[in-house]
Amino acid sequence: MLKDKVIVITGASSGIGEATALMLAEQNVKLVLMARRIDRLNEIAEKVKSIGSEAFVVKVDLAVRDEVAKAFQAVHEKWGRVDILINNAGLMPVSYLDKLKIDEWDRMIDVNLKGLLYCVAGVLPGMKDAGSGHIVNVSSVAGRRVWPGFAVYNATKFGVTALSEAMRMELTPTFNIKVTVIEPGAVATELTQTITDQDILASFAKRNGMIPLQAEDIARAIKYAITQPDQVNVSEVLVMPRTQM
Ligand SMILES: NC(=O)c1ccc[n+]([C@@H]2O[C@H](COP(=O)([O-])OP(=O)(O)OC[C@H]3O[C@@H](n4cnc5c(N)ncnc54)[C@H](OP(=O)(O)O)[C@@H]3O)[C@@H](O)[C@H]2O)c1
Repeated sequence: MLKDKVIVITGASSGIGEATALMLAEQNVKLVLMARRIDRLNEIAEKVKSIGSEAFVVKVDLAVRDEVAKAFQAVHEKWGRVDILINNAGLMPVSYLDKLKIDEWDRMIDVNLKGLLYCVAGVLPGMKDAGSGHIVNVSSVAGRRVWPGFAVYNATKFGVTALSEAMRMELTPTFNIKVTVIEPGAVATELTQTITDQDILASFAKRNGMIPLQAEDIARAIKYAITQPDQVNVSEVLVMPRTQM
């Protein structure tokens, strides 16, 4: 079903993006791996090829609009189309608002929200022309619930969830571009490494008994969404660890 599909994965250099790339590599696809850490992407591309799919590495900072436009131009020059876009890249330097970590607020908005939109702009004209496509947005349980300390991350992920539903309504019935939002609970990845607020880190350390998901658990949900029959649009998937409230 996925054979020969051109699939772009943003944030493919670690965590959920890497796991998704390696899982989809088993399907004989053409994968575009996007992120900033080119060494990591090259290593993952070698693994993808050894599993049996093609891989094209594109170094891009999603916060920079021109870079994103050039990245998608390069994909179109290489393979002529994008069948599936997996908007997965994101960061979570959460902090209490009174710490005024404004640079971190900016980075979350720039990548989680604006970067995702730049990628949508990179694929939309081609998908419209083709009369088909699938856009998968990785939001979060933080796109449905708020917590103190998560305000700006929550705002970006509520934004991604809202955008996804609006995109589905605008794009799916009219242009046959499917839209899915995936909402993971806690997943064991590098995501927490950008947190600089020591009070947040101390509050995380007090959480016990919660066993996070593995990145592969979310990769499986993404694969499920993009392998449904033509008449099905998987609109929203919330995947929680069994032990998370
Ligand atoms: N882990 C969780 O508990 C969890 C829960 C819910 C939702 N999510 C969401 O899942 C997605 C993937 O996160 P993850 O958990 O797999 O964390 P991760 O391992 O830290 O992966 C984040 C990815 O985003 C990329 N990225 C960050 N800033 C970027 C930028 N400016 N330009 C391009 N790429 C950028 C990173 O690549 P480079 O650093 O190489 O650029 C990396 O590949 C995120 O959207 C996150 O919000 C995660």
